This record gives sequence, C-alpha cells and structure tokens, in this order.
Amino acid sequence: MSDKSFYLTTPIYYVNDAPHIGHAYTTVAGDLLTRWHRQRGESVWYLTGTDEHGQKVMRSAQANGADPQDWCDRLVETAWKPVWRYLEIANDDFIRTTEARHMERVQRFMQSLMEKGFIYEGKYEGPYCVGCEEFKLPGDLDDGKCKIHSKPIEMVSETNWFFKLSDFVKPLIEHYKNNPSACEPESARNEVVSFLEGGVSDLSISRSTFDWGIPVPWDTKQVIYVWFDALLNYATAVGLTDAPESEGGKFFAKTWPADVHLVGKDILRFHAVIWPAMLMAAGLPVPRKVFAHGWLLVGGEKMSKSKGNLVFVSSLIKEGIDPMAIRVALLNRHYRSDLMWSDSILIAAQNFLLRLRENLARQEVAPTGSLILTLATSLSEDLNTPQVFKEIEDWCTATESGVTGGNPGELARVLDALLGIAL
Ligand code: ME8
Ligand code: MG
Repeated sequence: MSDKSFYLTTPIYYVNDAPHIGHAYTTVAGDLLTRWHRQRGESVWYLTGTDEHGQKVMRSAQANGADPQDWCDRLVETAWKPVWRYLEIANDDFIRTTEARHMERVQRFMQSLMEKGFIYEGKYEGPYCVGCEEFKLPGDLDDGKCKIHSKPIEMVSETNWFFKLSDFVKPLIEHYKNNPSACEPESARNEVVSFLEGGVSDLSISRSTFDWGIPVPWDTKQVIYVWFDALLNYATAVGLTDAPESEGGKFFAKTWPADVHLVGKDILRFHAVIWPAMLMAAGLPVPRKVFAHGWLLVGGEKMSKSKGNLVFVSSLIKEGIDPMAIRVALLNRHYRSDLMWSDSILIAAQNFLLRLRENLARQEVAPTGSLILTLATSLSEDLNTPQVFKEIEDWCTATESGVTGGNPGELARVLDALLGIAL
C-alpha cells in the first residue's frame, strides 16, 4: 500500500463549448495540489479530461451542423488541450469518454453490476434537464423550469435500466459519519448527509431515445446514462476491470482509490452519492475525499453559459494576458467561498507578478528559507493560498526595505515547483 500514488482528478468537462475560467479555476487548483505532492517526492497522478456523450454535447454539435464525434475531436484538439498547455497544467493523463479504453471498461463494469443483481429494468417517467443531464424532482423545479438553467425541463417517459441506488443510502450515511474528511468542506458534507437522510430513489442509468453514448452491453438499443458513463472515467483511466496481473490491473492497484476528486459544488451529489454507491456495488474502495469548491461569480452571478457571462480563457489569451497572471488570479483565494471575477483581479495579479519579478532580480534580497517553509506549510494544511501570496508580498516588502541574506534563485525554483509560477 505504501507505494500508492497520490491520485487527484478534476471533473471531466462537457465539450459543448471551449474552456472558460470556471473550468480553469478547478484545473489550476488541482495542478497546485499535485505540484505540492510531487515536489515532496511522492508518486502523483493528475487526471483531467472531457465528457463527450449525452444530449447536451450531441445538441451542441447539431446546432453547429457537426457530427458529434467530429465536434468533440475538434474542440478537444483546438480548444481544451491547448488551453491546459497554455496555463502550464501538469496533468499526467487526459481522458476522453469517447476513447475505446473508457468505453470498453464502462461496459465491463456495467455488466458486472448486472451480474451482481444491482441493475433491473423499469419505467422512468419524469422531468429531465439536458443542461444538467439530470433527472429532476419536483422540488428542483421553479415554475416548470430547472432552477439552475432557468429553462423548461423535458418530460421523459421510457423503459430504462435502473441502478439500485437506494440500497446504498445507509452505507453512505455511515461512511460520511465515520469519515468526515471524505466530503469537504463541512457545508458540503452536511448537504450530502441531509440529502441522503431525506431518502433516495433508484437511478435510471440508460436512455433509449437517442444514440450518442455507450451502448448498454446486453441491450444495445439503449445507451448508458451520461453521468454513469462520465463518473467512471476516474477509474477507467487508471485500469478499472483489467485483470489484476495485467499492466492496467497493476496500475489500478497502485492508483485506486482516488485521494481527491476536486469538483465544483454544482456536481457534488453526483460525486458524493451516486459515484461511491456505484463503487460500493462493485465492491471497490470509495474515493478518500470529494472536495467541492465555491463559484466563480461574474457580475455578481455564477458564471455560466445560460447566464451569458462566460469569460473564455482563449479571450484572455487573445488579449495577451500572461498565463502566470491567470494562475495567480485564480489561486489567490479561499476555495471554500465564492470568488468574484473581475478585471481588477487580473490587474492585481499582473502587478503582483511584476513586483515579485523585480524583487527576484535584485542583487540582495531578504532571507528565503523561512518563507519557503511557510509556503509549503500553508499549502499542505489547508490549501491556504491567500496566506501563500501574503507571505510572498511580505518578503517583497522586506527586500524593498533593504533586508538582505536570501537566495532568489532558490525561491524562484520553489515558486515554480509549488505554484507552477514560472518567473
Ligand atoms: O458538470 N465557478 O461539466 P461542466 C467555479 N461534465 N467552477 C466552475 C464554474 C464556475 N462558475 N463553472 C464551471 C460537468 N466550473 C460534467 C462533469 S465529472 C464526472 C462530469 C467547474 O463542463 C467546476 O469544477 O459543466 C464545475 O464542477 C465544473 O467546471 C462543471 O463543468
Ligand atoms: Mg455545468
């Protein structure tokens, strides 16, 4: 067990459009955490990727007159991967749910749950929001509209395959009571536990009215529900269902369970309820931690396509913004609360970098030893990035007031290794 890798994931993002700074927020935060573990000499695996099946992506392809696969290929290659390279994200793998390695393993996993008796055929009738790709309850609606997307929901009435999610309500409540760190922050855990205590119904895990998805292995007229497909990426990417003695099987043993699933609070329930239940059904270990961070707000509202207030990373690139300033702007905050995005945040980040670079270029600088130690501690204990940036500013102030005795080369190296801020 001791050689297990530290395994961290981001959500796999929908390729209905190009990456915006909300996506960058999670991915830069994950990059920071994995850099911290890597520079301590740990074996680390950092996964990100794209969620490509389902009606949301299919309709965006159709609206652009494209075949869904071509649409996904184009967006991944021209938008998603280049943006992560630009922001110097050091991911170890990039999974796409249309890859054969994922689709085959999802089918094998689903077949195994069928054989274990956790899947049955039933009739689904109820509201569905394509924006969320989610079956909704009456309480989730406001005047017939999804509260998140403010769009009318669609009524679904189909014979589908169901997962016995309700069997796992008790074990999940136990799990979070016994392992409070399995869902953070505390507000997120409380939300999950009270949701579970309110009772959970079984989940429809297939759809029959469109075909952009992975076929149900024993009923190929149906495709697997996009969230059941997508959640599995975390495990298929590291070898789920491969024979134990095979390369994939050995990698799975070294990597699974995930140490942290970093997600936004919009998708907390999928990660803290459905996903661990799927793993419990398969007899697999559940993730060690689901961490749900707050929103990035633009103009006082959650940034989202439906609100029309998206800030695309590519627009910032076109404006010539230093990618390091984008990283600083996204990192210099508490992940537990919401973050107001504005031009002034970017300007402050650019000024911060300017000042830091000037001070690193001086002949004589303030001591760096205790600063480096404080940076590492702030990151390890609570991902306290505001503290990290404050310490760096204090060091600049000391240097500017003539305190000397430090090693700027060493500090620059540490800032790059820890924060991914190349100076
Ligand atoms: O939900 N503030 O993909 P998605 C902060 N494919 N974070 C934000 C944000 C904002 N305004 N907007 C987006 C999906 N994010 C599914 C996930 S995982 C198995 C499948 C970030 O493209 C945040 O991490 O809608 C959020 O959870 C994620 O992007 C949603 O991305
Ligand atoms: Mg979304």
